[in-house]
Amino acid sequence: MDTLAVFDTTLRDGEQSPGASMSIEQKCEIAAQLARLGVDVIEAGFPISSPRQFEACRLIAERVEGPVVAALARALDEDIEAAAEAVRGGKRTRIHTFIATSPIHMEHKLGKKPEEVLEMTVRAVKLARSFTDDVEFSPEDATRSEIDFLCRVVEAAIDAGAGVINIPDTVGYAVPHEFGDFIRTIREKVPNIDKAIISVHCHNDLGLAVANTVSAVENGARHAELTVNGIGERAGNAALEEFVMALKVRSDIMSYRTGIDTHQIYNTSRLVSNIIGFPIPRNKPVVGDNAFAHEAGIHQHGVIKRRETYEIMTPESVGRDFSNIVLGRHSGMHGFKKRLDELGLALTDDELASAYARFLEIADRKKEVFDDDLYAIIGEELGRQAARYSLEYFNIISGNVSVPTATVRIRTGDEVIEEAATGDGPVDAVFIAIDRALGVKTTLNEYTVQAVTPGKQALGEVTVVLEIDGEHCVGRGSSTDILEASARAYVNALNRYELIKRNGDRR
Ligand code: KIV
Ligand code: ZN
Repeated sequence: MDTLAVFDTTLRDGEQSPGASMSIEQKCEIAAQLARLGVDVIEAGFPISSPRQFEACRLIAERVEGPVVAALARALDEDIEAAAEAVRGGKRTRIHTFIATSPIHMEHKLGKKPEEVLEMTVRAVKLARSFTDDVEFSPEDATRSEIDFLCRVVEAAIDAGAGVINIPDTVGYAVPHEFGDFIRTIREKVPNIDKAIISVHCHNDLGLAVANTVSAVENGARHAELTVNGIGERAGNAALEEFVMALKVRSDIMSYRTGIDTHQIYNTSRLVSNIIGFPIPRNKPVVGDNAFAHEAGIHQHGVIKRRETYEIMTPESVGRDFSNIVLGRHSGMHGFKKRLDELGLALTDDELASAYARFLEIADRKKEVFDDDLYAIIGEELGRQAARYSLEYFNIISGNVSVPTATVRIRTGDEVIEEAATGDGPVDAVFIAIDRALGVKTTLNEYTVQAVTPGKQALGEVTVVLEIDGEHCVGRGSSTDILEASARAYVNALNRYELIKRNGDRR
């Protein structure tokens, strides 16, 4: 079996999804889980782009044991120096530098001639090599580059010391057989290619990112850049869970070994979804709610008789082996923590204490607390430490003959603000009251509510997408009361906006 390196860029390209900004602690939390998942490389961020990105890279490099920690840098001295400084404290670190090589990017984005791009490539790789032996180079928009020029750049980057050459399909333009041929051509045309590992980084604009990655591997790539749940710029990147399971399930025809512990896939997916506030679509392969659900009678009958009739992998193989352990209001801290550990949800002592308090509140209203409820609770708690606003109290009067009226009390630091408002309905009233309390102007672009688990006592999970000053901010909240879940989601989105504002990221 050939070995294939898994490079996870959830914390860099994934975080570039509109609305997916994370706090430093949230990024560290995900990095720790990626290490448990068994990825080979964690791309922790883009240090020059903001102090938060720099600090997150620094802490992840310092704390993470196992995977290589990479930092991204344009082919510019200041970027490379910032990336080097950010990961300096780590044991195994990499600088990943890139510059665009397609005519459209060189002319309209960079305003540079091909020869200048070639020179910048060599300079950047050499500078990066002066800080570390592990340097990756990416010719951005490779798939729309002129092949002979691309091969010259790749050859020069390898001569300058790049050990990994990453071929990005930056705009998700390639189709599988073409991308496979492209990788093969690079292998044939670049004379020193055997001195480097070929990596691929596929975007999903045409829904082909995983297929393109598989095709590249079949043609010699040995390093795949992926994100959890496929998050990333625009339509996202190749989804780690789909790619890894495709190789595992079809090992009869694709014989590659990765270091991924597939039993950690589901936990990782839920953790990322809960932290960034993006729900996992029900029909998402491998990790969606419906991925192992059989609706048609004929299918159910088949699965009962023999699972393999309609299941090509087991839920257990991706860590979806929910136990029958159900927590309730009599569950102590010990049992609560034990279950979180089993689900791979590692919390600090402070997070654990507040998560347990929230668990007790929910268990008081809802007799049985399931694993999915725990994921929802923990997702909210992880963001709380960095949050600026917290909802202390709300009251809503509503009915078919009264004007819906909401009162809210919100804490921000030592200050407590109370406001009231009327609205078209109870949710509208509570949102207007929050806007008034915090003096913000928002547009509500999306509002969805879904039950976390089956049954009448299920937790309702609300997701909102707010537009504030041109930023899209996702917020999520859960409660047995959907009005409370709505208010929590709204405040969560406002906290995310504060985070984006505070970080001042330039990407
Ligand atoms: O999509 C892309 O080209 C990138 C590069 C920085 C690798 O994300
Ligand atoms: Zn990308």
